[in-house]
Amino acid sequence: MPDLSVNLAGLKLSNPTLTCSGTCGYAFEYADFMDLSRLGAFVTKSITREERKGNEPARIVETRGGMLNAIGLANVGLDRFVTEKVPQLKKMPCPVIVNVAGHSFDDYTETCGAMNGLDCVAGVELNVSCPNVKDGLTFGTHPGRLKELTHEVKKVLPGKPLIVKLSPNVEDITLTARAAIDGGADVLSLVNTFTAMSIDIHKRRPRLANVTGGLSGPAIKPIALHLVSRVYRNVTKHTGTPIIGMGGVQNWMDAAEFILAGSSAVAIGTALFVDPATPNKVCDGLVEWLTKQKVDRVSDLVGALELPGDEPRQAPYP
Ligand SMILES: Cc1cc2nc3c(=O)[nH]c(=O)nc-3n(C[C@H](O)[C@H](O)[C@H](O)COP(=O)(O)O)c2cc1C
Repeated sequence: MPDLSVNLAGLKLSNPTLTCSGTCGYAFEYADFMDLSRLGAFVTKSITREERKGNEPARIVETRGGMLNAIGLANVGLDRFVTEKVPQLKKMPCPVIVNVAGHSFDDYTETCGAMNGLDCVAGVELNVSCPNVKDGLTFGTHPGRLKELTHEVKKVLPGKPLIVKLSPNVEDITLTARAAIDGGADVLSLVNTFTAMSIDIHKRRPRLANVTGGLSGPAIKPIALHLVSRVYRNVTKHTGTPIIGMGGVQNWMDAAEFILAGSSAVAIGTALFVDPATPNKVCDGLVEWLTKQKVDRVSDLVGALELPGDEPRQAPYP
């Protein structure tokens, strides 16, 4: 049996599949539809310091090959998270990563500081890249501000791996990737959704109340893959920072592409709306793939993509 385990900067996972923040609630919402014990890790919906109602409906629109969402970070806020959700998270049969969002340095440091003291939280993912909120600062598109934020958060989170989730809505993602690592990020996750829109031609209005939203699903996969490959080749291959790749993963072959491009683990979001058991099926497929390739460990294939100009490998695989 090939070894699917991965080590994300000290965060040991039994396999490389995670859920994408915001696509599967806070904990047990999907328990009847997928085997949570077979997840590498569960990633919660973004938590903010204050409770948020989010945007007006319509907040979700289906598009060709994907979906647009403009939820606007609706969530229970830090206090209710600790009283209502943490008792459930303690019972989760897999490691839990809490995704934290905010609008100021204080927002982030207060919420992340609270996470540092919770044993049931294996790591924190910083959402610095939500394209669907109009209030507050944007950190994810500004390398200097992102480095500073990461540095401040790392100070209040000494005991847990810090994952910084990168926005694709930037000119050069390697600059924000480097900034996050310089600020102290232990792991990078990429990508969040792409800012996009959809129009109702009969009403001559945008379909989303927020006008724009974030595009996810299969439509973004080739772009997400390209961004992971770019960040891996130009940045993380040299710093040794693990990548959690995401964007349109629907099956094990998509996951395999992300792994070859440089992802140590792969997160699955929009596909859960079609088949909540997708992460479990991805694991099964990866086992078969590794077996056929005669590769013992999935970690041996991280970044194993051969590009023109690379030192040609011997052909170890059939
Ligand atoms: C309905 C919905 C809600 C989301 N909410 C969040 C969120 O709260 N925080 C966050 O960091 N990303 C959020 N995302 C982005 C996903 O975590 C992920 O980065 C993106 O959807 C790409 O992966 P996918 O194509 O597999 O869905 C959300 C995505 C969707 C579709």
